[in-house]
Amino acid sequence: MKERLDKIISSRCLLTRTEAAKVIRRGRVSIDGQVCTKPETKADADVQSVTFDGEAIRNTSYLYIMMNKPAGVLSATEDKNCETVIDLLPEEYTRRGLGVVGRLDKDATGLLLLTDDGQLNHRLTSPKSHAPKLYHVVADGMPKPADVDTFALGMDLGDFVTKSARLTICDGYSLVEISEGKFHQVKRMFNKIGLNVVSLKRLKIASLSLPPDLAEGEYRLLTDKEVEKLCAF
Ligand code: URA
Repeated sequence: MKERLDKIISSRCLLTRTEAAKVIRRGRVSIDGQVCTKPETKADADVQSVTFDGEAIRNTSYLYIMMNKPAGVLSATEDKNCETVIDLLPEEYTRRGLGVVGRLDKDATGLLLLTDDGQLNHRLTSPKSHAPKLYHVVADGMPKPADVDTFALGMDLGDFVTKSARLTICDGYSLVEISEGKFHQVKRMFNKIGLNVVSLKRLKIASLSLPPDLAEGEYRLLTDKEVEKLCAF
């Protein structure tokens, strides 16, 4: 569908219409290899090659952000008393009405996905999706080898029985993969085997991994490949 170039650049590059018009007038946007300085020019970004500073613009109008959530910040969109992950993001992202895909406890760290793509959010968090989540866990003791089977068989936590989970005991820490996301689930599973979780960090959600170079508090947009893989999940 043909749209005004400033509208395309605004929605796909997360700029206001005024900012988009400005970058177009400055000659930073090309259509099919030709610099276009007129914001009102019509183009079809799904058919034509539209570039901004030489980079192909993203072929989705949704926003997908990964964050390495720091401890002490709520994974909610707003809170009266406490800093939230939304407070860590710039206004050009937050004005899009982002949702958090699967919460992390306030004291937990690691991979958090934020998006305004409600369909993907629902798909990844729906109990039916079984999207795997991988956690790095340090507890006040180490699980016993027999606990691997206990996690795999499912654990009765009183209000629900967990689905099969994969526990890998490593040197001083454990890796746990669960395919659901009940409140405090990993902490409660460790409590059930007599341990308290000291630190909890999410490493993976479905196909998406926390990049080792993304420091706590940092965030970045997902690449088109990462979005494609998540959407195909
Ligand atoms: N399990 C927990 O106990 N806490 C989290 O934040 C995520 C999984």
